[in-house]
Amino acid sequence: MRRDAQRTMQRAHRFDVIVVGAGGAGLMAARYAAQHPGLRVAVISKLYPTRSHTGAAQGGVGAALGNVSEDHPEWHAFDTIKGGDYLTDQDVAETFAVDVIEAVYDLEHMGLPFNRTPEGKIAQRKFGGHTREFGKSAVERACYAADRTGHMILQTLYQQSIKDDVVFFDEFHVLDMIMVDGECRGVVAYELASGTLHTFHAKATIIASGGNGRIFRVTSNAFALTGDLMSIAYRRGIPIEDPEFYQFHPTGLYKLGVLLTEGARGEGGILRNGEGERFMERYAPSIKDLAPRDMVSRAMYLEIRDGRGAGPDKDYLHLDLTHIDAHIIEERLPDITEFSRIYLGVDPVKELVPIQPTAHYAMGGIPTTIDTNVISDGDSTVVPGLYAAGEVACASLHGANRLGTNSLGDLIVFGRRAGTNAARYAAEASFGDLPADNQDCAREMLDALRAGPRTERVAHIRRDLQDSMQDNASVFRTEKLLRKQVGILDELRERARLVGVEDPGQQYNTELMEAMELGFLLDNAEQLVHAALNRKESRGAHSREDFQERDDVQWLKHTLVHKDGDTVRIDYKPVTLGKYEPKPRVY
Ligand code: FUM
Repeated sequence: MRRDAQRTMQRAHRFDVIVVGAGGAGLMAARYAAQHPGLRVAVISKLYPTRSHTGAAQGGVGAALGNVSEDHPEWHAFDTIKGGDYLTDQDVAETFAVDVIEAVYDLEHMGLPFNRTPEGKIAQRKFGGHTREFGKSAVERACYAADRTGHMILQTLYQQSIKDDVVFFDEFHVLDMIMVDGECRGVVAYELASGTLHTFHAKATIIASGGNGRIFRVTSNAFALTGDLMSIAYRRGIPIEDPEFYQFHPTGLYKLGVLLTEGARGEGGILRNGEGERFMERYAPSIKDLAPRDMVSRAMYLEIRDGRGAGPDKDYLHLDLTHIDAHIIEERLPDITEFSRIYLGVDPVKELVPIQPTAHYAMGGIPTTIDTNVISDGDSTVVPGLYAAGEVACASLHGANRLGTNSLGDLIVFGRRAGTNAARYAAEASFGDLPADNQDCAREMLDALRAGPRTERVAHIRRDLQDSMQDNASVFRTEKLLRKQVGILDELRERARLVGVEDPGQQYNTELMEAMELGFLLDNAEQLVHAALNRKESRGAHSREDFQERDDVQWLKHTLVHKDGDTVRIDYKPVTLGKYEPKPRVY
């Protein structure tokens, strides 16, 4: 019998370290945990690893290598803090900017095929918000492999993990975490191929399951990005930090949301309104199209709102690459060129590409220490046996707005930390007892969905959720819209109780999994909307039209959203400041 078949016939598994999620953070964590002698490490993923969403991070990973022009980790840390509108924990940014250099070389040594400078060093290009000398002008900091950097990271790390004997459970949906006396002892997962529940008993669990962009209508995120573990952790008593800070990437393909990398602007691309004007000159006179994403997306919304959009409905803008040499476009931006040709029938070499901001990245998530230990409150109480890294986590690196390329940096820096720290913990710990009823909660959820009244459909509720989140809680927000959205979410929850799964099958019952994901999406939307309603200021990606100023006196603090039974409770924790005084952001 094949090893895979044997593995999945068994329904109870024991590993020293399990990793939930097989994107960049999960694979980096698995690889580093597996370096620890004698530990058994498994990755559980709802997708095949090489299809994980890290593959959509195109443009590069920011690290101050200084290969193209002078650069320093201090400049990178400062840009990250300023880009995050000073909600970034400064100690985290400083450590990150140093660690990411080593992590990039680590990937290079594992075989990642970076583009090269003429002298053979890792090539670097400009990206939004990355500057030299604390904001003087744009700097080449993004290390890239054409516009497939995330894809290459996945391929490289997957190969390494296989080499290191990491065990993979692909197409397993985690539905619950096993918490005993405040400690995490593993997870329960549903195997899509057989429709069975599996218990994964572990000494250390690392959550690295990615984001939740599918709460919005127009998003760069794949269908799988439904915030499952942000919801499961929340239901299990772990708060979610800073969910109101949700990033819209400026260049999504019009209506589809498919990402066109910021690297296109790093290579000289220009944003134009319907009148052909390079409008970013008015909003960010010094770095223009390479301003941070929150500023560019807001500027785009304002251009459209003021009637300067393009097209018959004046509801999109343009990315202009036509002045760039065709061979540079084909060589450094091959994927986005292809996307534009295939999906819109537009050739970027000769034509302007219709674009609009697309929901892209959750700055918030499961709160962690700098060492990736999950914390359960504002006093940073550590949850034993539980770690988190990547987009699902919030180590307070990105603050109120993440800089482009710092997502891939986050994955490799904090993925590595998670793997190393979880392994160290697992090597000392013993397996705690598992409650006999550890699968009951997951089974009850599945049974309830199968037995539901079937008077509502998952797809309709999900569409209404995504439309309303886009209209009421995206780039610009007001008290009125957010209150309206709270009401809509309550109604959607009531409607979700009326769903019933029609497919009685056990194998590949994707209808059942989509119904489960709907519940996760609703939790994620609830976290975001309540946090956004409470924060009465504008900061980074959270832009309140009724509170337009940043208010450091009242609001220089991280949100923590807790689930208390059926109600939402919000408290706060302080931002770790350092040598950079919060100042107005000018670019
Ligand atoms: O534009 C991009 O290539 C996206 C990168 C990121 O989100 O960091």
